[in-house]
Amino acid sequence: MVDDVTRRVGRANPTTEGIEATGERAAPRSVGIWLLVVAALVFAMVVLGGVTRLTQSGLSIVDWDPIMGAFPPITQEQWGEVFAEYREFPEYSEVNDGMTLREFEEIFWIEWAHRFVGRLIGLALIIPTLWFGIRRAIGRRLFVRLLAIFGLVALEGVLGWFMVASGLVDVPRVSPVRLSAHLVLATIIFGTILWTALDVLLPRAGPPGSKQRRPRSGWALLGFILLVMVSGGFVAGTKSGFAYNTFPLMGGRVVPEGLLRYDPLWDNFLENSATVQFQHRILAISLFVTVLAFAVLLLRRSPERRVAIAVWGLIGAALLQVTLGVSTLLLEVPTALAAAHQACALALFGIALFIFHESGEAEPPPNPAPPHGDDVDEDSELVAV
Ligand code: HEM
Repeated sequence: MVDDVTRRVGRANPTTEGIEATGERAAPRSVGIWLLVVAALVFAMVVLGGVTRLTQSGLSIVDWDPIMGAFPPITQEQWGEVFAEYREFPEYSEVNDGMTLREFEEIFWIEWAHRFVGRLIGLALIIPTLWFGIRRAIGRRLFVRLLAIFGLVALEGVLGWFMVASGLVDVPRVSPVRLSAHLVLATIIFGTILWTALDVLLPRAGPPGSKQRRPRSGWALLGFILLVMVSGGFVAGTKSGFAYNTFPLMGGRVVPEGLLRYDPLWDNFLENSATVQFQHRILAISLFVTVLAFAVLLLRRSPERRVAIAVWGLIGAALLQVTLGVSTLLLEVPTALAAAHQACALALFGIALFIFHESGEAEPPPNPAPPHGDDVDEDSELVAV
């Protein structure tokens, strides 16, 4: 990646109507801008998801109704009904015994808003996809890709409910595995939408039908960030941020006591706060060092201006992320700081993705496409819905 981004690769003119490097007709800029807006919505949704968890609001709506659930209770009687349903589940008796209706309304609205923005993202994705498709403003490949992303959004909704359902049992705490899976899928959705927007707004140049080759180190960095996010999801899911609130030592030691005290061994990585937090610290600091090394190597090769700016952004985001992580820990997980820590993780991922996108280099097609349109490949046809 380091080598490739520094080569000043030619860029296709995004305003040009015609065939771009993928062999598909270039989509209008409005498509790219719309996708950036949806990516921003997903970003906001991830932060709202964090706030939902941090305010312990996530288990306040105890059923899943994708359509009718969009309508919140209005009358006093309806509020009474949803509160009565909530009181039947263990979170009420175990955690919120004696909660008033007014207090319940507060956590209800947060969870409702989280689900509502989820629905909004689904609609904000599918309606314009169909609209652009019917008007043949986008090519077949892009259309199919957008439908696939919509499928991921729908899956995220199902996974969200699967996560909530794990907390509606005797122990009112959602499964850390499901929480992390929900976070990872949200990050993948954010990444694929952002990537698609960049494909449209900043298409890479190359002969018709050519593919973009990207260095493996870019995948590795994105994978590493995702891995650290998963480990953070486990810290959040096991509430390990409320233990060992010192840095850099844990319980006065570099390696905390009882690191592997659970049997079987793998249980430590799922349940043992010492292990879960220790691994997040180790992975996070390793990521920080990797990002710095990566950035220095990139900057030393005088990349394009916008890539250089992004690399400085990556350094800043990594620094901020570690500062937010340590502060969240020392101050015992205040909502605002923990939510900012989650947001910054996604920003770090997004910036790395941008740099990776810009590292594309055209790989000539095995059989060069014919110069004129008689024999146009099926994929390059405009989509007809
Ligand atoms: C670049 C490095 C880092 C990344 C990408 C990262 C990422 C994350 C993510 C995604 C979460 C989950 C948030 C959630 O689900 O709500 C998290 C949680 C957490 N992280 Fe990090 N983190 C990093 C560095 C650190 C550092 C250095 C510390 C402190 C030593 C730290 C402490 C925590 C704590 C205490 C939580 C749990 C907060 C909560 O309960 O909401 N993180 N991290």
